Amino acid sequence: KEIFLKDYKMPDYYFDTVDLKFLLGEDKTLVYSKISVYPRTEGKFFFFFKIFFNFKFYSASVPLVLDGVDIKLLSIKVDGKELKKEDYHLDSRHLTLTSPPTSTFVLEIDTEIYPQSNTSLEGLYKSTDNFCTQCEAEGFRKITFYQDRPDIMARYTCRIEADKSLYPVLLSNGNLIEQGGLEGGRHYVVWEDPFKKPCYLFALVAGQLESRDDTFVTQSGRTVFLRIWTPSHDVPKTAHAMYSLKAAMKWDEEVFGREYDLDLFNIVAVPDFNMGAMENKSLNIFNSKLVLASPETATDADYAAILGVIGHEYFHNWTGNRVTCRDWFQLSLKEGLTVFRDQEFSSDMGSRTVKRIADVSRLRSYQFPQDAGPMAHPVRPHSYIKMDNFYTVTVYEKGAEVVRMYKTLLGSSGFRKGMDLYFERHDGQAVTCEEFFASMRDANDADFSNFLLWYSQAGTPQVRVSSSYNPDARTYSLKFSQEVPATPGQPVKEPMFIPVAVGLLDSNGMALPISNVYHDGLLQSVSSNGQPVFTTVLRVIKKEEEFIFSDIFERPIPSLLRGYSAPIRLDSDLTDSDQFFLLANDSDEFNRWEAGQILARKLMLSLVADLQQNKSLVLNPKFVDGIRSILCDSSLDKEFVSRAITLPGEGEIMDLMEVADPDAVHAVRSFITKQLALHLKAEFLSTVINNKSSEAYVFNHENMARRALKNTALAYLATLNDPELTNLLVHEYNTATNMTEQFAALAAIAKNPGQVRDDVLADFYNKWSHDFLVVNKWFALQALSDIPGNVDNVQNLLSHPAFDLRNPNKVYSLIGGFCGSPVNFHAKDGSGYKFLGDIVLQLDKLNPQVASRMVSAFSRWRRYDEGRQALAKAQLEKIMSANGLSENVYEIASKSLAA
Ligand code: ARG
Ligand code: ZN
Repeated sequence: KEIFLKDYKMPDYYFDTVDLKFLLGEDKTLVYSKISVYPRTEGKFFFFFKIFFNFKFYSASVPLVLDGVDIKLLSIKVDGKELKKEDYHLDSRHLTLTSPPTSTFVLEIDTEIYPQSNTSLEGLYKSTDNFCTQCEAEGFRKITFYQDRPDIMARYTCRIEADKSLYPVLLSNGNLIEQGGLEGGRHYVVWEDPFKKPCYLFALVAGQLESRDDTFVTQSGRTVFLRIWTPSHDVPKTAHAMYSLKAAMKWDEEVFGREYDLDLFNIVAVPDFNMGAMENKSLNIFNSKLVLASPETATDADYAAILGVIGHEYFHNWTGNRVTCRDWFQLSLKEGLTVFRDQEFSSDMGSRTVKRIADVSRLRSYQFPQDAGPMAHPVRPHSYIKMDNFYTVTVYEKGAEVVRMYKTLLGSSGFRKGMDLYFERHDGQAVTCEEFFASMRDANDADFSNFLLWYSQAGTPQVRVSSSYNPDARTYSLKFSQEVPATPGQPVKEPMFIPVAVGLLDSNGMALPISNVYHDGLLQSVSSNGQPVFTTVLRVIKKEEEFIFSDIFERPIPSLLRGYSAPIRLDSDLTDSDQFFLLANDSDEFNRWEAGQILARKLMLSLVADLQQNKSLVLNPKFVDGIRSILCDSSLDKEFVSRAITLPGEGEIMDLMEVADPDAVHAVRSFITKQLALHLKAEFLSTVINNKSSEAYVFNHENMARRALKNTALAYLATLNDPELTNLLVHEYNTATNMTEQFAALAAIAKNPGQVRDDVLADFYNKWSHDFLVVNKWFALQALSDIPGNVDNVQNLLSHPAFDLRNPNKVYSLIGGFCGSPVNFHAKDGSGYKFLGDIVLQLDKLNPQVASRMVSAFSRWRRYDEGRQALAKAQLEKIMSANGLSENVYEIASKSLAA
């Protein structure tokens, strides 16, 4: 059933307090819920209605509809009295009280659930030996009957009873207020959460866990106890997570003035989890891969992801929990904002430019294709069938770009004012994206014109810029025109409000001061204090706009969209030599990288065209020189260099083609990589040597940057498949003392089929077979391989003893990994499609959320040639015709076929 934003209605009943009691057992769990309910229209106002309108109609109450799925109703009472059969109605998804009391009443419901057989990992389930919950978005209804919607906010207590030896640790939200022993080897605890919350933030954990304990003293001097829970053998691997948590708490105080609001903060790591992590009030639950790390078992990328996600979930305490969403269409209100906050946190902890590059690359490789495909939806979707399908890169990452644009327009202090007003107005409320917009606007008295369109129009705006210099008038003009592409359900679009940060360079590469900009014949102030600036933000609002810079004494080179100031595709009339110039000289480091990417994209597309016309491939020597000068520029940040010498991904290039050709794109990317390795072999070799270190692993920017550059150089060298270099790689593999370097060497070796590859892969498995997080890397590396015919390897790995279709991380590594190799997934014979089609149907029976993420790999099937289209379509049709298909998979598959 499709649900629409425009159909939102306020609830007829609110819940004030919720008392839950769980009796955890081995074959079933009993859940007792006691809710104090009050009708929305109770009181004076309602009374007047009763008198002035139809007394009879208004005195009869409206039904109270509770959600409930896969749960067994045992009993239902209102104000202590068991309800009679005719007073309620039960179907497979709802429990409806036909005429509840017209004033405050107490509702008591007893249910029975089966966490041990819950493979959907939603609601209450067992992960390995522990009970845990995942309620967002609509999992609470799998625990008890409830109005499962975020605008129902209540204060909770939670009593948990369980076997004491199997489940010595019993956790829920808030403060522990009581605990004790019970008969029969059981014990109990009572938790009380003083803050009202929507049910999606409820959590419960029970098991044999141990904690790493620490404390944090807040700004105002309160001591907060911090505990990170895992099975005891993993506690040593939680040091980095604890460091990250404390850093996040401090950062939120310093940057946003936000202090933690309880005396206890718990994090639990579980091995079976559909997503990354969940921000349940004071009891965050994490996928263990985002908590556990040691230098020997986790890579720099893992360390960085842990920092970011620990921050993300912690930041939700204010953006998500204290101020929450009115309904699920507003998801980006909390997610876009919180992603923005975690991006800023990671930037401040490491390198801002490198973080921005990583985030923009991610947006381009995943969000752009989504926004151009059958699942395209606005940051605030208009409708959904299954909400879980809308935890997307659009809601999260494009949503974060939308938040970033407010900051670009208002500056840091204006943005902070807006945030402060948002918290001041809405603490304790469930609100919409308009409320956030209004806070930003009102706190700054700002004119945001049609900015709200960013929430309602899908599709990546395409912006074209043409420039001209008038030497007589000494003016420089930039003309913008924009187009927002049609997306499913939105054939016609209006022009959007696009902030374009611009700087101008003179012929020496020096920044030109900007003092006067004319727009529509009017002088716009570019700075508040009358001083010239070097970057100004142009407000592109109409379909066509012109900006004229005055007092410009020579033809400048513009640096456009600095820092990627809006989530758009930009085309300009800049020449290749302008781009080479920017690559060498721009003071905006992000745009230096961008200039290199623009050149690389153009080069790759033109070589793809050559290849398709059977021309032989030749690499432009200017490109090699450009890469060389970056590689050898010791003044640059090493991680920046590593990013700047890395070509755009195959997906990004296919995305720019009329008909995506995975084979040609792969061949061209391999060709350029190999040519660069050939021409720059000496430079790459010395990069490897100069960036070795025998010191112990340290997680900081300098060391990560050094390892990143060294590993990128190794990957280039591996493409030469030269025996001497292979020896070097094997040596690197054998002598590595941390996973970052060990895995990078392994990945480089694995590029070339043969005995060495097989031996080293086997060695790696034997070393790490006891650590399932490392084994997942091993699965992913093989799955992602571009080796021809790799589908057979992956098929075999499905029956490897370490694989398990019920564990999401394993599925994401092996099956998700396989879909990440365009040549193999899109193999011409359809073998990749068939493999995925079969797996999706198996998975759907176990875990619809995971199945639905996998089926998404098919969604852009129309981008390929007719042969591939037919093969992919056949798989989608096969999936659609299966019996008992979940709504999750149905939504993605049907929309993919329809668009
Ligand atoms: N709120 C969580 C986070 O972003 C993600 C929850 C995802 N849940 C889901 N059903 N997809 O931190
Ligand atoms: Zn989140």
